[in-house]
Amino acid sequence: MNLALFGPPGSGKGTQAKFLVQHFGIPQVSTGDLFRAEIEAGTDLGRKAQTFMDRGDLVPDDITLEIVRRRLSAPDTTGGVLFDGFPRTVPQAVELDRMLQGMGRRMDRVIFIQVPTEVLVDRLAGRLTCPKCGRTYHPKLAPPRIDSLCDEDGTELIMREDDRPETARKRISVYLEQTLPVLAHYRQQHVVSDIDGTGSIDEVRNRILRAVGPASGEPAAGIRVAADQREEAPPQGRLGGR
Ligand code: AP5
Ligand code: MG
Repeated sequence: MNLALFGPPGSGKGTQAKFLVQHFGIPQVSTGDLFRAEIEAGTDLGRKAQTFMDRGDLVPDDITLEIVRRRLSAPDTTGGVLFDGFPRTVPQAVELDRMLQGMGRRMDRVIFIQVPTEVLVDRLAGRLTCPKCGRTYHPKLAPPRIDSLCDEDGTELIMREDDRPETARKRISVYLEQTLPVLAHYRQQHVVSDIDGTGSIDEVRNRILRAVGPASGEPAAGIRVAADQREEAPPQGRLGGR
């Protein structure tokens, strides 16, 4: 099963991914995490990506597609993948369709997590990230069990450079301009599930599980798909599709 978590910065893609990969037994492919690992390793690709990430801009499509292509050639991805933060432009989505088709696969479901802008800014301003495993925390909203240490591996948590308020705001506007149009691409394929991303982490997780259904790739009975979704206006005040 191939799934994608889609939504603005701070909507909870990484948070939900950590649970979904265990539930569905597929690996998370977060382009943001892949770039941060390249930066940490001091590679050429990492250096190129960093200049864009530091500004809150998207990394160019050719670099992003190269890293995804490389990741999808690893054997652990043959049973499916949970994409997190990819695809983020229409050309990336078109190329991903082509790559999946070449492997006899397709995008089964795109989970669109909608959250009001003011909530996003609050979440990003306080976010703590584990540099080792990528898990995210928040002192008020999702605190670690032991102050400033990752629950999973005990690594000291850090604040991401691009979570500084001015860069976070830039990332949100880049999302609105360059990434939201990707949704129309997947609505045409009738694979988008609109999820209310407000409320507790558990509540959002349960909404996602209801929408995605059993781990078979088939949508759960009764969820809204196809034509009615395309016509549905997003809830007021949320970052929604146009
Ligand atoms: P990336 O790392 O993908 O960042 P992002 O998309 O901006 O998303 P975030 O990781 O900021 O947010 P999230 O939705 O994962 O939220 P989280 O779960 O952490 O990309 C970084 C950069 O890399 C980009 O700017 C770009 O430069 C580059 N890049 C990456 N992919 C690219 C691509 N495909 N093409 C081009 N460039 C690319 O949650 C946020 C906070 O909220 C946490 O503190 C969490 O604890 C808290 N929280 C989560 N859910 C809840 C809840 N329900 N209630 C309360 N708190 C919650
Ligand atoms: Mg993330």
